[in-house]
Amino acid sequence: MGIVHWDDIDGHRAAKGEMDATWQQLGKAAGAVGIGVNRMRVAPGRLPTPPHSHGASEEIYYVLGGAGLAWQDEQVHELRAGDCVIHRADEMEHTFIAGPDGLDCLVFGTRHPTEFGWLPRSGAVRIGWPWIEGRVDDPWDVEAEGPQLAVGDPAPRPPNIINIDEAERDVTRRRDTALLATDERSVLAGFYWERLFPGAIGAPPHCHSEEEEAFVMLEGDGTLGLWPSPRAASSGSVREDVPIRAGHVVVRPPGTRIAHSFRAGPNGLTMLIYGTRKTNDMCWYPRSNKISWRGLGVIGRIESLDYYDGEPDDDEEQP
Ligand SMILES: [Fe+2]
Repeated sequence: MGIVHWDDIDGHRAAKGEMDATWQQLGKAAGAVGIGVNRMRVAPGRLPTPPHSHGASEEIYYVLGGAGLAWQDEQVHELRAGDCVIHRADEMEHTFIAGPDGLDCLVFGTRHPTEFGWLPRSGAVRIGWPWIEGRVDDPWDVEAEGPQLAVGDPAPRPPNIINIDEAERDVTRRRDTALLATDERSVLAGFYWERLFPGAIGAPPHCHSEEEEAFVMLEGDGTLGLWPSPRAASSGSVREDVPIRAGHVVVRPPGTRIAHSFRAGPNGLTMLIYGTRKTNDMCWYPRSNKISWRGLGVIGRIESLDYYDGEPDDDEEQP
């Protein structure tokens, strides 16, 4: 669990009317808990979904190949490989239109379980306290029977679409990072394209308590380092290095007690990095014995103790 290769994951085709795309649920296959990572391959000239918006989820798309248009609030904008499109919650209605060679994208999204009640015999749905009428037909049938989506001439690209060639770059001795979804551009998650230079290690090994991360390898190869926390080690977890290459998808759910790191092989390693933002997140750094209280902006070092450290021996009679 935690790592899959996209060549090994079955796709399902969703096709009706204008919509025709094949979807691979990569994040689900890798054990994602609170996020989705899907690859969608849209057939030439088709849409992946009807136009829609989200009340709570934030979606971040990365164009792997092909070309097409982003349809946003009845305007369209040209798309090409290396583009990142961010749809924040409760903003634009959106979909995509594949060009003549199709459109190949990764979709990263937050998931927000919502409590509602469903009465199958009366077809009623309870959201909060009111009941509303549910339906069991497929809205895609209605979409498919309607007029084709109107598409005008492409308009200039708005700020929610950016190519890696246009993004601000952070280049160090070890890596080249394109900042695609920064604090200014997205709310619920961060997103980066990053190339680790040959032999370099990326972010220091760390484990999140609340944030969830997903990594998609685009080029090259290297290793995923896994570093058990003291409690995980006391339960038998051991330090591991797992070989990875282009096409591997790595998901690190929160609270695994296993830190992760990436080291590039001799040809370098290029990846996409997606991570949710949670103000209550704590991050543990096993090599330096540090904890970062992320929402507080404080990093400290603590003394790690055994579970029974300081406890009296309960087998002996206590005074
Ligand atoms: Fe969406």
